Amino acid sequence: MQFFRLSLKPAYALSVSVPLFLLAAILPLVSKTAVKRQEPPADEPLLVQLGQTLFNDSTLSNPQGMACVTCHNPSAGFSYPDSDVNKTMGPVPGIVAGRFGNRIPPTVSYSSYLLKGPPVYDPDLQAYVGGFFWDGRSTTTTEQAKAPFVNPNEMNNLLHNVASPAMVVNAVKTGPSGALFMKVFGPTVFSQSTDAVYALVAKAIAAFEASDIVSPFSSKYDMYVAGKTTLTLQELNGLRLVTGRENGRPGGIPTKKSAHCMDCHGIPQTLTPTSDIWTNSCFANLGVPKNLSNPFYGNTDKVANPVGYNALGKSYIDYGLGDFMYPKMGKPIADLAEGDPLMIDGTFKAPTLRNVDRRPNLSTTKAYMHNGYFKTLQQVVHFYNTRNTTTVAGEVIDFTKPDPYAGLKGKPIWPVPEWPSALTLINPQGLQVLTETGNTAAEQIGNMGLSANEEAEIVAFLRTLTDGYWKKPTTIP
Ligand code: HEC
Ligand code: HEC
Repeated sequence: MQFFRLSLKPAYALSVSVPLFLLAAILPLVSKTAVKRQEPPADEPLLVQLGQTLFNDSTLSNPQGMACVTCHNPSAGFSYPDSDVNKTMGPVPGIVAGRFGNRIPPTVSYSSYLLKGPPVYDPDLQAYVGGFFWDGRSTTTTEQAKAPFVNPNEMNNLLHNVASPAMVVNAVKTGPSGALFMKVFGPTVFSQSTDAVYALVAKAIAAFEASDIVSPFSSKYDMYVAGKTTLTLQELNGLRLVTGRENGRPGGIPTKKSAHCMDCHGIPQTLTPTSDIWTNSCFANLGVPKNLSNPFYGNTDKVANPVGYNALGKSYIDYGLGDFMYPKMGKPIADLAEGDPLMIDGTFKAPTLRNVDRRPNLSTTKAYMHNGYFKTLQQVVHFYNTRNTTTVAGEVIDFTKPDPYAGLKGKPIWPVPEWPSALTLINPQGLQVLTETGNTAAEQIGNMGLSANEEAEIVAFLRTLTDGYWKKPTTIP
C-alpha cells in the first residue's frame, strides 16, 4: 500500500538540460504482447457467481456498509457512480468518515485482460508496462482483490492498525456470502488457514472480474468490428484519429492526421473477438494538473488515521509508478542518469478506454485520470490537444525551459502539471512534427493542432466503447 512519499525529490525538474533524444519523448510503437485473459478462467459459473456475491457484499467492510461495488459500479462501467463526489472531489470516501484515498477508482471492467505485474520495461514501447492500480503495484487481479479490504481509506479491516484478513474471512463466514462460499469450496472450507481462505475470496472475485458480466465486449464498437453495425461518420472519423489509420487498426494505411491515442491505448494488429482492450498497460506522465479538490490533501490526522494519513497535506505529489518502484529498487531518483529508462516519476498506467463514458445517466458526472482532475471526455481530449498552449495563438509552453511560464504573452490553457518534469513528461516541448503522410501534424500530447470538430469526433468514438449496446453475449448488469 502506498500512501505518501517518504523521500522528496530534488527540484531538478525545471532546471535540467535534456538530451536531444528525450525532447520529443514519445511512446512510439504498438506492443507485440498478445492480449490474454488472466487466470483464473471464467468458465466456472458457480465460482463467478460467488465472486459477484462477494463483490456486492457490503458486510465485508469495517464498519459494515461498503462493498467493492460501492466504488466499482456496473452503472458507471465499474467505476465510481456518484456524480457529486466525482464532480467536487475525484478521489472517493472510504467507509470510515473523513478518510479518503489518494486516487480515483479506475474501471474494473477488462482488468482481467491487462498485462500482469510487476511492471517491466518494454523496449518496443519505450515504457514500463504491466501491473494493477494506477501505479502497477499489484501483480494480478487475484492479488489486487486482497488489498481494498484491508486499506484503511477503503474497507478498513484493520486490527490495532494492522491489516486483518481474519476479520474479512470471519465476515464472509458469518455473512450473506457464507453459504455459497461453502457450496463452492466445500463445507469445511472455513477450517482452513486464514491465508488460504482469504486467497479463495480473492480467487472468486478475480473469476467474476474475468467473466462476461464484467468484461462483456458488448459495445457498439464490438458490434461494428463484428460487422453487425456501422459507425456514424463522426464516430468513424474519431476512430481514424485515435488510431491514425484509415481502417482503424495498426498496420493500416496512415491517415493524414493522427491523434496518436493508439500509441498508448493500443489494440493489436490482428483482430480477435476479445483482442481490443484499448490499452498497452503502459505508464506515462501526461502532465495532468494537480486536482486541488483532492480530499486526500485533508487526510492529515495521524491520530485518527495512523496508517492511511497524508503527512504532506496539500504539498503531496503523486509520483505514481515512481512512488512504487524507486523504494523497491533502493535507488533514489537523484542517482539516475538523464535518459535512464528508470525515469518513471509521475507516470501512471494508461487505463483501458472501454467504458470511459459509461454512466448511470447522461447527467452523471464522471472523473478522469489518476486524480480525477477532469470531469468530461471533452476536457480530456482538449487537454491532450492543448496542454502546451496559451490563449495567444501559436504560443507554446516549453517544459524543458528553466521557467516554462516566463515571458508568456497569453494565459496558459491549463494549470501547471502535478509533476512538471521535463524528463518524464511526454513531449515536454509541445513539438509538432511531419507525419508519415507529409502533413504537419501533432506529436503525442500537448500541441496537437486538432480542430474543435476533430476533438468532438474523438469523443464520439470514445462513446462507442460503452458496454451494453449489444446484447450479444450474456446479460449485461
Ligand atoms: C473506497 C472505494 C473502493 C473500494 C471499496 C474498492 N476499490 Fe478498487 N479501487 C479504488 C481505487 C481508488 C483504486 C485505484 C487505487 C490506486 O491506484 O492506488 C482501485 C483500483 C482497483 C483495481 C485496479 C484496476 C486496474 O486497472 O489497475 C481493481 C481490479 C479493483 N480496484 C478492484 C476492487 C475490488 C475487487 C474491491 C473489493 C474487494 C475494490 N476494488 C474495492 C477504490 C475502491
Ligand atoms: C503517451 C501515452 C498516451 C497517449 C498518446 C494517450 N494517452 Fe490517454 N492516458 C495515458 C495515461 C498514462 C493515462 C492516465 C494518466 C494519469 O492518470 O495521470 C491516460 C488516461 C486517459 C483517459 C482517462 C481514462 C480514465 O479512466 O480516467 C482518457 C479518456 C484517455 N487517456 C484518452 C486518450 C485519448 C483520446 C488519446 C488521444 C487523443 C490519448 N488518451 C492518448 C496515456 C496516453
